[in-house]
Amino acid sequence: MKTAPTVVLNNGLAMPMLGLGVYMTSGDQANAAAEEAIAAGYRLIDTAAAYGNEVGVGSAVRSSGVSRAELFITTKLWIADYGYDEALRAVDQSLHNLKLDHIDLMLLHWPAPSGFDRTIAAYRALERMHEQGAIKATGVSNFTEAQLDHLDDAVGITPAVNQVELHPYFSQTSLVKANQRRGILTQAWSPIGGIYINHPADPNQVTEVLNDPGLVEIATHHARSPAQVVLRWHFQSGVATIPKSVNPERIRQNIDIFDFELSQKDMEAIGLLNRDARAGAHPDVFDLDFLTKLLQK
Ligand code: A2P
Repeated sequence: MKTAPTVVLNNGLAMPMLGLGVYMTSGDQANAAAEEAIAAGYRLIDTAAAYGNEVGVGSAVRSSGVSRAELFITTKLWIADYGYDEALRAVDQSLHNLKLDHIDLMLLHWPAPSGFDRTIAAYRALERMHEQGAIKATGVSNFTEAQLDHLDDAVGITPAVNQVELHPYFSQTSLVKANQRRGILTQAWSPIGGIYINHPADPNQVTEVLNDPGLVEIATHHARSPAQVVLRWHFQSGVATIPKSVNPERIRQNIDIFDFELSQKDMEAIGLLNRDARAGAHPDVFDLDFLTKLLQK
């Protein structure tokens, strides 16, 4: 059985360096994927209130036959639930959906900069739930360096994790270093660049990181898939990942990366693929107002 190595977060909690992502999957799909993943050795499942599939994930955890203590469940607080009391209620709702008595890592899903006081209040609510034992680690997602500083000035617990868009075409090296300086672990969402496929800027010209010729060449050399090479690149860079897949073969493939090593030359070559090409929303603009306007278009 292949399990991912763990990393010790800034509060002493051990977290697997690789887990399953379930973005854009229905409750049933997430349930099946999480069951498959746990059977394949995954010990971390990453969901979010906004994905609408916490129930499916929680059910897979309970039926897995693996003890709760061995599993690491991440979920995220949605921006509509920011504010102190709202966040307390939303964490309770996530616990209820998951039917678990604690969440291992709870993230603020986005910084929501236009109402940052509510973002701070939401983080304080996570701190309170942490004190009570309902959350084992508090963290953030999609925060820029400036937003981390803004938060840090106002709260007591440094986030354990900053989960951000990160793949070979958007390697965010300065943000990774900024996180490191603060003792915050970087966790990559869309680590193999699936965001380009799921949200293509131009549907007629979809960018596929995994088809990059440089990557394919390295993968061929190691007799691995491009996805395995990218996930290994993250791991050797000290970045945790949550590749999303609902396909049993790809779920197994994505965790099978801990028995080969990329050379320094491979690592540098993958680093050079960076195009600073963000595919997801920008954290300086993405908030509830932005979303509302987007939906009204
Ligand atoms: P599927 O769920 O059908 O496997 P990311 O996590 O970077 O956003 O990538 C997710 C996307 O990549 C999904 O569309 C997923 O599709 C696909 N995917 C996941 N694992 C692999 C893999 N090993 N090879 C190719 N595509 C993959």
